[in-house]
This record gives sequence, C-alpha cells and structure tokens, in this order.
Amino acid sequence: MANLWGGRFTEATDASAYRFNQSISFDKRMYEEDIAGSLAHAKMLGKQGIISSEDMEKIIDGLNSIRDDIAAGRLVISEEAEDIHSFIESELTDRIGDAGKKLHTGRSRNDQVALDMKLYTRKRIQETDRLIDLLMRELLKIMEDNIDTYMPGFTHLQKAQPVTLAHHAGAYFEMFIRDRQRLADIYERMNTCPLGAGALAGTTYDLDREYTAEKLGFTGGPTRNSMDSVSDRDYLIEFLSALSTIMMHLSRSCEEIILWNSNEYRFVEIDDRYSTGSSIMPQKKNPDIAELVRGKTGRVYGALMALLTTMKGIPLAYNKDMQEDKEAAFDAMDTVLDCLREFTGMISTIRFNRDIMEDSAKKGFTNATDAADYLVKKGVPFREAHSITGRLVLKCVEKGIALDDLPIEEYKAESDVFEKDIYDAISMKTCVEKRLTKGAPGRERMLEAVRFYRVYLEDMASDKD
Ligand code: ARG
Repeated sequence: MANLWGGRFTEATDASAYRFNQSISFDKRMYEEDIAGSLAHAKMLGKQGIISSEDMEKIIDGLNSIRDDIAAGRLVISEEAEDIHSFIESELTDRIGDAGKKLHTGRSRNDQVALDMKLYTRKRIQETDRLIDLLMRELLKIMEDNIDTYMPGFTHLQKAQPVTLAHHAGAYFEMFIRDRQRLADIYERMNTCPLGAGALAGTTYDLDREYTAEKLGFTGGPTRNSMDSVSDRDYLIEFLSALSTIMMHLSRSCEEIILWNSNEYRFVEIDDRYSTGSSIMPQKKNPDIAELVRGKTGRVYGALMALLTTMKGIPLAYNKDMQEDKEAAFDAMDTVLDCLREFTGMISTIRFNRDIMEDSAKKGFTNATDAADYLVKKGVPFREAHSITGRLVLKCVEKGIALDDLPIEEYKAESDVFEKDIYDAISMKTCVEKRLTKGAPGRERMLEAVRFYRVYLEDMASDKD
C-alpha cells in the first residue's frame, strides 16, 4: 500500500524497517476515533469553503461507509498500511476518488493522532468509571449486609481492635470514590481539542477550531498552543497513574482476600467460579483470580513508567518516540477493565464466614483497649489501666482463653475496680457499637455512612443522564 509521503523518496523503505516503523498493528483499534475526527475536520473544511460542499458530502459519505463496513466486518483493516490514518485515507480515496485526497487539507498526522488518542482515552476513562461504579454497588451490598459482622481490624497484620466487615468494605469504597474523582479531574483537564494544530505550527488555512472542538465534544474548546497540542501526552500519563492507583487498591484487597481465603484465616470462601484447582494436589482450591489481579498490577505500573521514560527526553514538538505511547497504554487500559470485571465477579459471589471472623476478633484480644478504657472511665489513669490490662492479657495467653472468658476473680486480683459489668463492656457488640466517632465502625455511624454511599451512587448515576 502506498505511503502518504512517497513524493520525495526514490527508494522504498527497507521491509524490516517498514515493519519496525508501522503502527497499524496496534493503532487500528482507534479507527472509530480517527473517522470521527476526520468527519469533524471535513465538515469544517466544507463550512469554511476550503473544500467544496460536494467534496465534503462525498468525504462524509465515504467515511461513514468505511466506519460501518469495518464495524460490520465487511472491511478488514489491512496491516499493509503504515498506520490507521493512512489506511482510512487511502480507503477513502479508493472509494470516492479525488475528493478523498482533499481530506488532509490543513491537517497533519501529528494533530490527527493527538486527537485520536485523546478521543480513545476519553472513552476508556468513561468505561473505567462505569466498571468502578458496578464494583462499588457490590461493595455497598456487602456493607448493608454486614453492619453487625464483627471482625478483627489489623495493624502490622496483628489483630488490633474490633471493626465490622461493613467498615472494612467502606475503606475500599472510599478509595474508589477518590479513584473516580481522579478520573473526573483528568477528563476535565484533557477536555481541549488538538485538531487544527497541524504538524506543530498551525496552518495558513482559515480553520474554525472552535467548530471542530465543539463537534467532537471538547467543551474546553481548542487547545491554546499548537506545539504543545501535538506533543502533549500528560493526560495519558495521568490516566496511567490513576489506573495504577486503581490497581494498587484492587491489589490490596486481593491480598486480603487471598489471606482471608487461606486455611489459617478462613474468613471467606471464594466461589468455585472464581477459583481453580491444582493439577497434582486434589485438595487445592486456589485464589487464582485474586492473585492474577494482584500480579497484573505490576504490568500497569510498568506502562506508567514506560511512558514517563519515553516522554522525558523528547524535544518539542512531535517525535516518532511518541508512537510508543500506545501499546503499553492500551495494554494497561485493557488490563484494568478486565481486572475490574473479574474482581467484581469475585466479590459478588464470595461467602463470608461471619462466625469465624467474630471468633477471631475475640480470640485476638481486640477488646483489650476497651478493657483498659473501662478502668479509665472508673477513674484509673490510662497508663496504669494499660499495664493492668496487659497483665490480664498475659494471663489469658497462658490459659489459652479470651478476655471474655477470664473469671471475675482474676480481674479483681489485678484491680478491685473491676465489676461483673466488665464482660458487657468488652463484648464485641459493645466494643464496636460504642465506637461512634465520625468515621468509626459503630452501628449508627455505619448506617450514616451507608446512607451517604447510597446517595453518592445515586448522584453519580444521575450525573450521567
Ligand atoms: N503512528 C504515528 C503515532 O502513533 C502517527 C503520527 C505520525 N506522524 C508523523 N509525522 N510521522 O504517533
């Protein structure tokens, strides 16, 4: 297939150099965006009288038919073309003749690819947001069902204080709120249209850049500096950074699920549909999906690192290095969407062993702070109360029992402030329910939080309408 730029050359590109240089094998996925950009450009050229209305009409019909044919599988994108831009332009000329050769008036592949990439990224941002929304709906269900499911909260992976499963899930809900805020910020900041920046210095044609920006849904209007327009990939770096953060969140949760699903914890059981077996050990049921999500996190970080590194040495304006923005970024986008889908499937089918969770909180002395607080409320200075409770814990450790099961005489032996009401004061129910500071797991606070999250999801849904 002929290049767009053959005129100045007397020899064809070396075959392996051609393969090295091409991007069609991976940028063909942007065909819809490329056609959308070309349609806007052609309409603008016609409106401005830069091309005739007849040519404009032919171009529009031609582009629409190419898009429909590709979508329907009637036209296969030939990988002989250098890139998707060349493919569509030459296909257009094959279909409509000379009018097709006018499409590229006042445009360069540099502003064209900058536009395509922005349009493509924008869609992926929206899709990522939608999948996080579905995930959050599952998390909310888990919260609603587990306001009273007590479990140990950990620090240093040591049992620390009692929380609830709802509270634990709420922590992730918060992370995903921030993830979505980041996506919305990026969307907003990249909301300017590079089309019309030309190769790097604009053009002498009387282009209406406001018109194309509007047609393509860039409410921020056209970009302000043509050199920046063709060489800006900040939005992609920001998106990869946001995707990396999303993966970090998913990975942390997967790590917990893997631990919780282990024989040692048994807090959860991952559904058969999201586990796999071992080829040799018949008893095994492995948390592969969670492990893979955790594992794929590295790959997404890698894409971010790769693009940052590619961009750091590029002088203004466009350089071919920038073609390297695509493969890793596409891979990262696909990976995150896949991980969000699988993760959501996994958590919506997971079973929680509530009794084991509560038992683990009891056995882990997560109520020791509350035993000390009991003394403090009866006038014992906190440091002293801390040390008395420490000794009680030691007794329990030696006996292999929980604080709840230590006889009252043993309590009294350490401090005569203790009365029988200590058992009520350190019951899981009291420990959790008295935690009523804002953000704490106490029932009333959690009910408030759940209400807030419900409204949040409703608002997010109505924003989209
Ligand atoms: N395939 C190129 C890319 O992805 C398109 C832009 C080519 N422009 C150029 N002047 N060679 O960046």
